[in-house]
Amino acid sequence: MTTEELEERVRGVKSRMGNRLFLPGHHYQKDEVIQFADARGDSLKLAQLSAENQDAEAIVFCGVHFMAETADILTQPNQHVYLPDMRAGCSMADMASLQQTEKAWSALHSHFQDTILPLTYVNSTAAIKSFVGKYGGATVTSSNAQAMVEWAFTQKERILFLPDQHLGRNTAYDLGIPLEQMAVWDPLAEQLLYEGNIDEIRVILWKGHCSVHENFTVQNIEHLRETEPDMNIIVHPECRREVVALSDDSGSTNHIIQTIESAPEGSSWAIGTEMNLVNRIIQEHPDKLIISLNPNMCPCLTMNRIDLPHLAWCLEAIENGEPHNLIHVEKDIGEYAKLALDRMLIRA
Ligand code: 13P
Ligand code: SF4
Repeated sequence: MTTEELEERVRGVKSRMGNRLFLPGHHYQKDEVIQFADARGDSLKLAQLSAENQDAEAIVFCGVHFMAETADILTQPNQHVYLPDMRAGCSMADMASLQQTEKAWSALHSHFQDTILPLTYVNSTAAIKSFVGKYGGATVTSSNAQAMVEWAFTQKERILFLPDQHLGRNTAYDLGIPLEQMAVWDPLAEQLLYEGNIDEIRVILWKGHCSVHENFTVQNIEHLRETEPDMNIIVHPECRREVVALSDDSGSTNHIIQTIESAPEGSSWAIGTEMNLVNRIIQEHPDKLIISLNPNMCPCLTMNRIDLPHLAWCLEAIENGEPHNLIHVEKDIGEYAKLALDRMLIRA
């Protein structure tokens, strides 16, 4: 089947189903998919849109599994969320299981008692969001992490930040918390890694990371500073602390897009984030010189699982009344997970 035929099939279902269908698409999706999105956004925007859209019977999520779960938690019971390819997971979300989190919590509690609040990046499973909601915590996204960490410190003396150590460290550092007051929980060793006085620890970072953003290195920056000294470097806060520290700017997907949009004509930028998005930014700004901070970068492989054939297949199955790939978060998990999301959404 040709690309044109697949596109025609997607267009056909979209026009026949009209408002009964809603397609949110994350900025990291391929062009062949994002062109059909009814709304595109970063994790925060897509969560907000899912909560607001009460018309669509079917939400076909062009993103990864945890995003579709979030959409299911935030939508009405008569709305159904589908993911065109169930293999579209997220390696970072998989780095924190509920069992590991419960073990960590009990070990941390036995030392710090009731002084810790759990926070989780939305890039986590519904089970982790539920755990966090149950213990009074909230979700965060890369665009509101600072505000959420500030809020957390109005509740408790310490935070446990799951599952991305880099976003947690970069955010806490920007809020003035010294690195010495941060420790890392290693879920495999079931151990707290820290130097110094344990009672001074204020931030406990889960030892997880994004396999895409960890590929930007200090060497990439040093090389660029040497070869292109006038180039601005902007990176996502899922990058390592050293990379963020050496860059000119860092921020969420949305922040990166807006910064490039408002940058002067002729300016030059090296971007440290997912490659589908970087390529799209390059195409949309021919008046600026834009490159990836790491020339060998690949797109996020799991985001890329959502492709045109899966999208067409998924949409037609819904239209024919025999849907596949329903994302359903169990009620008991969903209720606490929604609490964690709502605590964020009212502040976002
Ligand atoms: P944001 O959309 O919040 O910037 O997150 C980036 C990401 O890694 C999504 O998977
Ligand atoms: Fe997960 Fe990183 Fe891919 Fe986002 S970019 S879906 S955090 S692996």
